[in-house]
Amino acid sequence: MPGGRAARNVSCVATQDTAFRALSDVVLALASEHEVEPVLQRLVHSARELSGARYAALGIPDGEGAFSCFLTSGMSDELIAAMGPLPRTHGMLGAMLESPRPHRTEDISKDPRFRGWWPRAHPKMRSFLGVPIVARGEVIGALYLTEKDGGFSAEDEKLIALLAAHAAIAIENARLHERSRELSIVEERNRLARELHDNVTQRLFGVALAAESASTLLDRDKAAVAAELARVGELAHGAMEELRAVVFELRPASLEAEGLATVLRKHVDVLRRVSGQRIDLCVGELPRLASGPATQVLRIAQEALGNALRHAEAEHIRVALENGSGRLVLSVADDGRGFDPGAVRGRRLGLTSMHERATELGGKLAVDSGAQGTIVRLEVPA
Ligand SMILES: Nc1ncnc2c1ncn2[C@@H]1O[C@H](COP(=O)(O)OP(=O)(O)OP(=O)(O)O)[C@@H](O)[C@H]1O
Ligand SMILES: [Mg+2]
Repeated sequence: MPGGRAARNVSCVATQDTAFRALSDVVLALASEHEVEPVLQRLVHSARELSGARYAALGIPDGEGAFSCFLTSGMSDELIAAMGPLPRTHGMLGAMLESPRPHRTEDISKDPRFRGWWPRAHPKMRSFLGVPIVARGEVIGALYLTEKDGGFSAEDEKLIALLAAHAAIAIENARLHERSRELSIVEERNRLARELHDNVTQRLFGVALAAESASTLLDRDKAAVAAELARVGELAHGAMEELRAVVFELRPASLEAEGLATVLRKHVDVLRRVSGQRIDLCVGELPRLASGPATQVLRIAQEALGNALRHAEAEHIRVALENGSGRLVLSVADDGRGFDPGAVRGRRLGLTSMHERATELGGKLAVDSGAQGTIVRLEVPA
């Protein structure tokens, strides 16, 4: 009957439509997710829904007879818990990892590769569709679907193969990403080691030499000793600055990626742990800063915090990063012994460089200190 065929066509179009939409959702999710596991989990759910299977799973073997990742869909947490540890790559699960060909059967238990029994608490399964996940000719995992009323069709197989191809891309991307991250860490480490060797070691060598010659001159020539000691001080300062520059160089990358507030929070965390000092950090809604100025603000915060920790003998240090009518306001306050900022002379670089950085930023730096403690306040136009 013509009407019947039309109705069937409509329902067929509707199913295809749903399938395409679901597929496109999955593909879009691939692009927007940075982590691979949520993407794969979504793929497994979609595979189950689109094929009409009761259970679905995706396994990535670890190369040692087990799965490094085994995600399921259609199984409750209780069921998963009752089944115990992750499956191993044997039986039908393993068979799908041996060749890139998909496999479809009405009754998995009749397959010669089936081990002959289900583990305790494992649901009994009959119909089965296994599709290997293949990347560059190599099987890197598989999608498993079971328990569909009426069994799996050739259409189901095509659809799942498409999802498997996307899973391959997601897994490969994640692996490449991990490798490039490892490589850049190694490169950065090498570069820093080189820098430390070239600059800081040389300067410290100079410090040692100057100290030695000062001690041999000790009884003979007071003026020469004083000159050598001044040199020791100068070289040591140079080495410290160099070291700080190298250490700081680690920061801009993470500043760019994580933002000022996060990097400052991490820094405060480290200081708390190292010093055991109480440090409160308060971060409000911040105006946006480019990474150059953000680095300067971070360095000022670090110097002010360092001073409070080293010199103030404070009970309590409070750091705040806030929005002051569109300007970024940093304050570092301590309740320590205070000092006279106008009287600081000689070779002290910390306060000087804080002021220099503030000027470079087009901002204002104020250091107020007295018997109640010290407050360093920086205002920067956003
Ligand atoms: N929060 C503070 N509480 C008490 N004294 C402080 C505080 N900040 C700075 N001072 C005093 O001011 C001096 C100068 O500070 P500055 O940061 O310029 O030098 P520094 O910390 O001694 O050395 P560096 O320049 O290597 O950091 C310090 O030596 C200290 O005596
Ligand atoms: Mg200082």
